[in-house]
Amino acid sequence: MAKIIASAMCSHVPAIGAAIDLGKTGEPYWTRVFSGFEKTKQIIADLKPDVAIVVFNDHATAFSMDFVPTFALGCADEFAPADEGWGPRPVPVVKGHSELAAHIAQSVIQDEFDLTVVNKMEVDHGCTVPLNLMFGSPSEWPCKVIPLMVNVVLFPPPSGNRCFNLGKAIRKAVESYPEDLRVLIMGTGGMSHQISGPRAGLINSEFDKKYLDSLAGDASHARSIKHVEFMREAGAEGIEMVMWLVARGAMDEKVTEKYRFYTVPASNTAVGHIILENAAA
Ligand SMILES: [Fe+2]
Repeated sequence: MAKIIASAMCSHVPAIGAAIDLGKTGEPYWTRVFSGFEKTKQIIADLKPDVAIVVFNDHATAFSMDFVPTFALGCADEFAPADEGWGPRPVPVVKGHSELAAHIAQSVIQDEFDLTVVNKMEVDHGCTVPLNLMFGSPSEWPCKVIPLMVNVVLFPPPSGNRCFNLGKAIRKAVESYPEDLRVLIMGTGGMSHQISGPRAGLINSEFDKKYLDSLAGDASHARSIKHVEFMREAGAEGIEMVMWLVARGAMDEKVTEKYRFYTVPASNTAVGHIILENAAA
């Protein structure tokens, strides 16, 4: 049987991708950020995932603002890096696991989560930056990837609690897949940040750290946060943090915090990162 072996959540700041692509990771500004992911790469390598489900949001790249599905599951065999305005990132093509993805779609839709099935999609920094942070910069990504896109760009996004419950449904789907697969589930986005308007540059470390504490606990606080509170406390783009709850929902109620890192800022964003394993494991 397939099983969820761990969850890993992290910010997906586009400037992190640019720093990698332009060879700037050794600059003092960036060593502070990247040093926090050195241990991560060893932890993830030791976990040896066969598949990573990457919960991310598209930034009006694959889906224009003409239509934005609330939840969209990538069921293709591969997903090319998207051109976000300065050419596609020079990272490997993301190889999908179409059989497991189709199984998840079947199971989760029968569990009343109406996913959009996506058979063709290019993936932007929301997906590829976290892959770099988890796996470094290999010539090929070391595991298959199932991208799960969540709408956090066009009002109204799903609630954190809805995302948490989707995670539970995904876990049920994974655990009913007959092949022995080690599945890592990743939540991406956030943490507190606002990229435009009078409050541009807003960062709320207190809010972020309480959120991380909640994920490492039973997540009840994180699940209870309303959109307006994300907007007020964590900035207009802080709503991205609901995606971490999909990954948290796929775990047991009791988890062990394997690793945590938090630094401010990267670009104009707080960078947070946490790796969780089931306490029973
Ligand atoms: Fe984002």
